[in-house]
Amino acid sequence: MTDTQLRQLIEGSKAILLENWKEGFTVPTKNLYPFQWNWDSGFVSLVHSYFFLFIAMLLLDTLFKGQWENGMVPHILFHSENETTYFPNYDFWNSNVNQGAPQKPKSSGITQPPVHGFILENLLEKFHDNEELLAFAKDIFPKIVHFHRFLYTYRDPNQEGLFFIYHPWESGRDNSPLWDESLDRIQIDRSKLPTYKRKDTSLADSSERPTDDQYDRYVYLIQFGKENQYDGKAIAKESPVLIQDSMMNAILIKSNQSLINLADRLVMDKAELEEWQQQSIKSYNDKLWSDELGMYACYDMRGGKQIPFKEIGGISPIYAGIPDKQKADLLAKYLQDLHDRGYYLCPSFDVDSPLFDSKRYWRGPVWPQMNWMIHMGLKEYGYEGLAKIVKSDLLELVRTLGFHEYFEPEKSLAKKLSRGYGGDSFSWTASSVLDLIHST
Ligand code: SER
Repeated sequence: MTDTQLRQLIEGSKAILLENWKEGFTVPTKNLYPFQWNWDSGFVSLVHSYFFLFIAMLLLDTLFKGQWENGMVPHILFHSENETTYFPNYDFWNSNVNQGAPQKPKSSGITQPPVHGFILENLLEKFHDNEELLAFAKDIFPKIVHFHRFLYTYRDPNQEGLFFIYHPWESGRDNSPLWDESLDRIQIDRSKLPTYKRKDTSLADSSERPTDDQYDRYVYLIQFGKENQYDGKAIAKESPVLIQDSMMNAILIKSNQSLINLADRLVMDKAELEEWQQQSIKSYNDKLWSDELGMYACYDMRGGKQIPFKEIGGISPIYAGIPDKQKADLLAKYLQDLHDRGYYLCPSFDVDSPLFDSKRYWRGPVWPQMNWMIHMGLKEYGYEGLAKIVKSDLLELVRTLGFHEYFEPEKSLAKKLSRGYGGDSFSWTASSVLDLIHST
């Protein structure tokens, strides 16, 4: 890529972050997602730090203002109650059925990947001696630990060190085929389902979004959560969807490690974290590795079995230092083969599966923040060449197709397109691009 092209990517990232900033938080993209999203805020705060470090801190601080008493950090904070372009809005979630949910900001009743620990470590690596950042880190550290404690207390009924999700939106990979079998367990009785109207499909191409049938199931699960006051322990007993997600748990392990690494410097206790970490890494390798797939799998707790699909979550533990060298080699080989076959890295789902759909959200497309994590993980394991491909593929996709939410993985098809998929002017696309440009 030429210097001019790189400069354009940097300028483009900056412009998007300015455009999406809303006094205290950043929206993922203006129309489709007009509130504060949890894991988006983590990635985006990294990049705000390049321009204004205090904004990076403010963004995380604002997010943790929505933390529930039980420790959960919700997946959406509805800072404005007047915005009506998103479904399901705060009134549909009615998260105050849980006594520990703050009255303000209103929030959803589910969570998202716990990225904040590793984001904090990353910020402290970038601005090692900044006094304000150190003070901020001391303030937010216990809140992040409280979030992790929530996951281990309310979402790990068998005390395995692996927590469950009960709504696909928690995983971030909303409509991945991973969840199909669990969602199909739900018997939809339309007379009992509340009337609702999707808004996403009037803002983005419906062929790039989840289907109506999937939305009915998402809504069913919100109702189910609400009826159980969004209480993890009750949900564990009854939910038709109960899955130990490979990516969510890998991210938790990565963030645990970051907090352990920071604890001494911040004069914080790490004994609890170390205990969680030891058990989680062991269970992760014992329960989620699949010889058949040559990668990690999610575990369906209701069905009592692994979910046998090759997908991006099964590779993500490379970012958390979970696989040994032999397993890591298999993950790297999987990616190298895809590259050799003419795919941009990293498709979100198995390109050889009949369920692969190269444009439909999490059933195939390349997602920028996933490339960011996988790039960092590959580098850590010493797969330098592959790490460079993961980075340059994303930069090329964004340069040629714009700062979109997700992208076509088949190179031959992508070359015929004029844009990426889903929302545009997307914050974490800007953030992933800019941070990858700085990563050598
Ligand atoms: N990704 C979901 C949506 O599409 C919710 O997080 O609205």
